[in-house]
Amino acid sequence: MQALVVTPGEPHSVRVAEHPVEAAESAVLVRTLEVGVCGTDREISEGIFGVAPGDERALVLGHELLGVVERDGHGFSRGDLVTATVRRSCRRCVACEEGAPDSCLTGDYSERGITRLHGFARELVAEDPAQLVPIPRALGRLGVVAEPASICARALRHARAIGNRQPWRAERALVIGAGAIGMLVTYLLRLEGLDVWTAALDPPGSPRARLVEASGARYVASRETPLEDLRDEVGGFDLVVEAAGDAQVMAATLGLLRRSGVACLLGIDPRERTVELDGPTIGLDAVLENRVLFGSVNAHREDWVAAVDGLARARERWPEALERFVTLRVPLDRFGEAFEHRGVKATLVLGETGGAR
Ligand code: BGC
Repeated sequence: MQALVVTPGEPHSVRVAEHPVEAAESAVLVRTLEVGVCGTDREISEGIFGVAPGDERALVLGHELLGVVERDGHGFSRGDLVTATVRRSCRRCVACEEGAPDSCLTGDYSERGITRLHGFARELVAEDPAQLVPIPRALGRLGVVAEPASICARALRHARAIGNRQPWRAERALVIGAGAIGMLVTYLLRLEGLDVWTAALDPPGSPRARLVEASGARYVASRETPLEDLRDEVGGFDLVVEAAGDAQVMAATLGLLRRSGVACLLGIDPRERTVELDGPTIGLDAVLENRVLFGSVNAHREDWVAAVDGLARARERWPEALERFVTLRVPLDRFGEAFEHRGVKATLVLGETGGAR
């Protein structure tokens, strides 16, 4: 069958190639409908990330799955829409043993389409039923953003847990970055009723700005309005989420918080450099105002369930806006366009949902 493969470590080696169909006795056979492309896929394609399974040289890409069950079995019926978790247990740490590989303590986990495990960008996948997450039919093709939404759901769950270690109420949030992660966090926070400001580089009135505003959040063009000015104007934020992937911006989030504020880092910035942070911001304000800065990666199964539920509620509330989340859909052989795409989300389409939207 056809698959999108890469030779990890070799820049620009992404290609469509033949890949064997796996045996599926104890697994559920899933036909891939659509696979999302994200920054991690781009890093793998540039040769700076990714590990092939065992002693193989190639890795099948794709960790954002929307698929359809091919045969009845293991509690699933033919035609069910599903997605699947990305990270799998290292089998030897307390977090993985407790079913929380998102908090793995050894780093020896595997991840579909990223590290030591083939991904979903192929026609058929034999998947462990325990790793499948049902997608309601009403969600249809929007199910393809369940994976990035699960990353957001975990980040917000952790931010709440950290904030709630002391009496706290999250009222004002700043989201920095309006790619898929920033946009999904914006919508999830609006569902919870927070006042949200979402900042990105695009000018006011751009499609990205309009998509932010459709949720009732305020769009901030950060080239025009420095975030420090915004902080002074609104009086600081209870929650700041960095989804732009800039280490300097990440450091500065600590200075955008108000008392008991929580800053969460979701972007990735591997560039070797030194970033700056005002001495009193960390040495005084962070201490005297009980502020926290933390990072979050991957998602627990409970976050996947929350993400799917959040997406379904968001779709009900803002149906027209949610249709605009995926800004490019192309077939597998046009993967180059998806990797180049700079809109909110690009996906690779491998099959039809058969009735689902
Ligand atoms: C994925 C996560 C994964 C992380 C690190 C992200 O793009 O969404 O599931 O844990 O990359 O590999």
